[in-house]
This record gives sequence, C-alpha cells and structure tokens, in this order.
Amino acid sequence: MGAIPQNVIDDIRQRADIVRVISEYIPLKKAGANFKALCPFHEEKTPSFNVNTAKQIFHCFGCQEGGNAISFVMKYENVSFPEAVRVLAANMGIEIESRDAKADGEIERIYSALKAASEFFRARLEEAPETAPAREYMKKRNIDPQLAGLFGLGWAPDEWEALTGHLLKKGFELKTIEKAGLCKPSSKGNAIDRFRGRLIFPICNAGGKPIAFAGRVLDESRKDAPKYLNSPETPVYSKSRVLYGLHLAQQAARRADSLIIVEGYMDVIALRAAGVENTVAVAGVAFTPRQAEAIKRTCENAVILFDTDEAGIKAAQKSIPVLLDQGLKVKALSLPGAKDPDEFIGANGPEKFGELAKHAPAFAEFVIDTVLAKADLNDIGSKTEAAREVIPFLKKIKDGIERSQYAQLLAERARIDPKVIEKEVNRSIPQQGAPAGPRGAEQKTSARSLAEKILIRILLDRPEYLDSYASALAPDDFSNKEYMEIFRLILLAREREVRTISEIVDMAGSEGLGGQLAGISVEKDLFDEEKIEKVAQDCVNRIKYSPQTRKNSLQALSEAAERRDSESFKKAEKKYIESRPDKL
Ligand code: GTP
Ligand code: MN
Repeated sequence: MGAIPQNVIDDIRQRADIVRVISEYIPLKKAGANFKALCPFHEEKTPSFNVNTAKQIFHCFGCQEGGNAISFVMKYENVSFPEAVRVLAANMGIEIESRDAKADGEIERIYSALKAASEFFRARLEEAPETAPAREYMKKRNIDPQLAGLFGLGWAPDEWEALTGHLLKKGFELKTIEKAGLCKPSSKGNAIDRFRGRLIFPICNAGGKPIAFAGRVLDESRKDAPKYLNSPETPVYSKSRVLYGLHLAQQAARRADSLIIVEGYMDVIALRAAGVENTVAVAGVAFTPRQAEAIKRTCENAVILFDTDEAGIKAAQKSIPVLLDQGLKVKALSLPGAKDPDEFIGANGPEKFGELAKHAPAFAEFVIDTVLAKADLNDIGSKTEAAREVIPFLKKIKDGIERSQYAQLLAERARIDPKVIEKEVNRSIPQQGAPAGPRGAEQKTSARSLAEKILIRILLDRPEYLDSYASALAPDDFSNKEYMEIFRLILLAREREVRTISEIVDMAGSEGLGGQLAGISVEKDLFDEEKIEKVAQDCVNRIKYSPQTRKNSLQALSEAAERRDSESFKKAEKKYIESRPDKL
C-alpha cells in the first residue's frame, strides 16, 4: 500500500470528531459537555473512561489509557497508525489518494473476492451430501455447528474450478481472483482453484476480515498432499504479521491482560470449545516481531503453549526473546502427556487445562526445564553446554533479584556452583536505572514533580504562556523524565506551529507518552483557573530554583571550567546564579 500523504492525514485528523469515532465502537453517555463510558481497555463496573470534546482526547482514569481519535482506533482495532488513518478515512468516506491509486482500488476488490470466497466455502459446507466427510470429520473433532460458524469454517469442493467459476460469475476479474490467491494457472494454462477437497479455515485480520485461507486434507489416502495448504502471500496477506484467531481473542485477551499462543488452528478451536477465548495460533511459521507487536497492542502477558515435540519446544524457545523484546511478560507451558493442547483437552478436560495454564511458569523456568531435560547431567561437557544455552535467556530478566533466583535454580538443577552461574548471568548486564522502589515512588509525587505536571497542563491548555517561559525553561530543567519529554514535545509543537493537544498526542506516538499527555490534559482540579498566571509562575520558580538544579548547574560549572570551555561555562554560570535560593 502506498504511503498516506501528510495533508490527507491532517485532513482526517481535523475532521474525525472523537465522539463520533468512539461511539462507532462503544456506547458513550453524555456527562456535561463531555462523554463517559465503560472502558473498553480494562474491566470495570463504573465508567472511568472519559471523552473530552473540546480537547478531542480520551482518557481512562482507571487504566490510564489515553489519546486522540487515531490512537483510539489503533488500540481498539489493534492496527498501526497508517491503518488506523485508513479506517477513519473509510468511515468518513474520504478517498485516500495514495501514490498508487490504482492499486488501492485493487485492494478493495481483493478483499471483496476473499469475502465472497469465504461465503462460498461456508455455503458448500452446509450442503449435503458432498460435504459428508467434512461434517463427519468435524464431529470427530468435536466442532459443533456454532463453533464452525464462529471460525467461519468451510468446504472447498473437490473440483477444478468451482470457486473460480463462481467468482467469475459474480463479476470478479480473473486477475483479482488470482491476486487474492484463490486460483493458480494449471499446466494446461487455464486457471484452477487453489483449494480443492479441503476443510477451509479462513485467516482473518484483527478486524475480522478474511485475508487468506488454510485448507486441511481429510482424505487419508492423499498421502502425497501436504496436510495444510495455505494462501500465498498477497497484497493483503503477509503470513509474518498474522496471528490466527486474533479477531476472536482480542476482547478476552484485554480482559485477562494475557494471550495464549499455540501452534495449530485446531488448538485455537479446541481451546475455544473448552471456554478459553484468549488464544491465537502462529500457524506453522517462526514467530516474528510483527506478531509480537500485535500482541503488545492487546495485552502485557504472553503464554507460549506449543506442541510438546522437539520442534515445538525449539519454536517456543525461539519465540521467547522475540516476545521479550517487545516488552511483554512471557510465560511458557508444556503440557504433559499430550502432543498438543487440543489432544490434552480431549484427554484431560478443560478444568485440568485451566489449572495448568493458571500456573504456567515464567519463561526462565521453562527454558531451564526443557534445556536440561535433553542434557546428560552426569557429563560435564553436556552440562556445561546446557548451562551456556540457558544463560542468554536468564540475562533477559530485567529484575536483578529475580535474575539471581533463576541463576540459582539453574545451578541447583544442573548441580553447578551457583556463584559461577550467577557471575556468568550478570556478566555485561547493563545497569538498570533507579528501581521503582519506595524512593522512586516518592520522587514521582514530590512537590517539584507536581509543579512540572501543573506547568505542562497549563502550557497544553494555553500555548500562549509558552512565549514567556520558553526561553526561561529548558527540558533538562525538568526532574521527571516523562514530563521532560512532554515539555520537549511542547517546544517542538510550537516550532512546527502545531496547536491542538490531539496533534501533539500524535507527535508523541500512541504509546505511553501520548497517553500520559492526554491524561494530564484532562486531569481535574490541578489548579485554580482564576490564578492561572500566578500558578504558572510559581511552577516555573519551583522547577528552576530547586536544590537539584543548583547542584546540577554547579557541577556543570566546574566541568566546563575543567574543559576550559568558556561557552558552556557562561551558560552554567547564568544558570547557577539564577538558581540561588534568594530568587525563590
Ligand atoms: P490437526 O492435526 O488436525 O489437529 O491440526 P493442527 O492444527 O493441530 O496441526 P499440526 O499440529 O500438525 O500443525 C500445527 C500448525 O502448523 C497447523 O495448524 C498449521 O498452521 C501448520 N501446518 C501443519 N502442517 C502443515 C503443512 O503441511 N503445511 C502448512 N503450510 N502448514 C502446516
Ligand atoms: Mn496439532
């Protein structure tokens, strides 16, 4: 897809009224000039999700999610920024003229061909008698009609051009059908259906639109045929981005703040039948950063639940760093006595599964267990090799106390001196910043930090105040890192003549900072409106003339002197003089 031109993004941003956008997704209730709702991003009984019409911002006081219309769509639909802009554009009937306008029309046609194909497959599954084997198979696998409907399962008839013929008759061009991956040229040169005589699993995007299909053979005699056949990569389908079942899992995953990742389509379906809704499948590809990003947009915890064979364990181990690198908390589970979750539930029932899943071990324990299981602990070489394999995983644990405990666990299980393991594990671990212990918390709510927050709020509300303070204050006058970044953004926004909070949220990106900015901008009772000018001045004083600033500037002063850097010296000197307590 072509890039969206900046002027179109600006146009959509200006025209997308946040109340209209959000009420497409959840019911909003009027509360004064603003609107309230039950937050869609966390579970709650009383509404703490607020939509501020004047500022075009949403914010949840419960879970601290916040942002503008575009970030709402990104979070709710689990899509990237450009995708969210496209969704908004489509809802508002704005045509996005991309660099390749022809291709855009084509993409719409491919989507509708896929939708028509999905309906065709479904209709054929409902028809007897041709689908008798498929229905028998579904019965054997405990897939009832309701479950089949939920996942949109279908049947591809064992004919050469049943689907292609059907789509041509509906007016689709052969070119579109081919680009959608639904047919392919035969050796004779004519187009034949890609899926023939297979049970069809539609693969959908996060919005629930079919973008590809997988077809499973049912006929045991077709030994030479692959068990599953997949759509090829197409303009709408890239298998490295897709998680099978995400559109059905998203809500439950948000509620549980956790997503279970399995290997097979059938695992997702079996878990759903057992009442476990927050499950997606990677479907036979190596786990990719794109997939991890999609999970991170949904929740904070990932539970890897792959097959128990060697390939499954290898794949699980490979996925762990990919998930960790997205900042997800990762657990991993191996089900005893069954080859996959589907089989485990069939044999042990859903309760047993639920119990195991609830106590899934952290990834480190999983890695220790699975790596040591194939090592010979009586052989020093094998033991050493195993420990070396585990250590890179333990290095990924951020918390030093936790890391040390897993180092000890590894040492214990492998019967190696814990001091040696711990030393290896801590080798070249970057020093973490100050821990968020009691001291961190105290700092966060200090008077200084509050002054910084209030000033930011004032500057967001009244950008004109910036004129008097912009020269007096620099970002590194701020002690709170996040407020410092927000102040930097406010300065940048001024430079770019960006005026609305909603636009500044976009500049901040939809994650953390943008949400926090939105939160500050709607927080109530931060200051008394009537004394705004005095409050602002007090805040500036407090920020500039703190003992910390004084200490910092003194340090800068002596450093500049040491370097004989007269430029920096003069600057530091000015700051030092300004920070004299009598200025307060
Ligand atoms: P059942 O065997 O019917 O229970 O299905 P399953 O989904 O559990 O399949 P399996 O455990 O064999 O494989 C796990 C996943 O790997 C499948 O869901 C597919 O996504 C993928 N896969 C398995 N076999 C093939 C194949 O032959 N071709 C392709 N493209 N993918 C496959
Ligand atoms: Mn399986």
